[in-house]
Amino acid sequence: MSHLLGVNQTSLASAMTILRLTLHVLAATVWVGGQFVVAGLVPTARALGADVPRKVATAFARLAWPAFALLIVTGFWNYAAVDHANATNSWNAVFGIKMITVLAAGLGVALHTRAKTAKARGAYAAVGLFASIAALALGVALAG
Ligand code: HEM
Repeated sequence: MSHLLGVNQTSLASAMTILRLTLHVLAATVWVGGQFVVAGLVPTARALGADVPRKVATAFARLAWPAFALLIVTGFWNYAAVDHANATNSWNAVFGIKMITVLAAGLGVALHTRAKTAKARGAYAAVGLFASIAALALGVALAG
C-alpha cells in the first residue's frame, strides 16, 4: 500500500521488487518448508532402512544450503532496497532480531548435521526449525 499525497492506494509491486521478493520467498519455502517435509518423512525413511534417513537428510542438505545462501544474498538485496531514512525504530529492532534468528537457524541446522547423539540431533533440529520459522515471521513483519 502506498500513501501518496495522503491518498491510500493499493497498487502492484514493480518488476524489480517482484523479482527480489519472489527469490527471497522461494528460497524461504525450500529452507523452511523442506525442514517440515524431511521431518515428516523420517518415520517412513526409517522403515525403509537404518541408513535411509541419513541419505535423505544429505540429499536435502544439497538443496537447503544453496537456498540458505540465496536467502542471505537476496536478504542483503532487500535491506539495500528499503528506505532507511524513513525506517522506524521498531523496524530496525525487528531487523536486528531477525538477523539473530537467521544466525540461530543456520547454526541449529549445521550442528544438527554434526550431532553425535540422537538427543542432540533432535534438539538442534528443533532450534533450526523454530529459528527458521521466527526468521520467516519477522521477515513478513519487515515487509509490512
Ligand atoms: C532463514 C532465513 C530467512 C528467511 C526464512 C526469511 C524470510 C523472509 C520473508 C518470508 C520475508 C517477507 C517477504 C514478503 O512478505 O514479501 C522477508 C523479508 C525481508 N527479509 Fe528475509 N528471510 C531470511 C533471511 C534474511 C536475511 C539474511 C536478510 C538480510 C541480510 C533478510 C532481510 C529481509 C528484509 C529487509 C525483508 C523486507 C523486504 C521488503 O520489505 O521489501 N532476510 N524475509
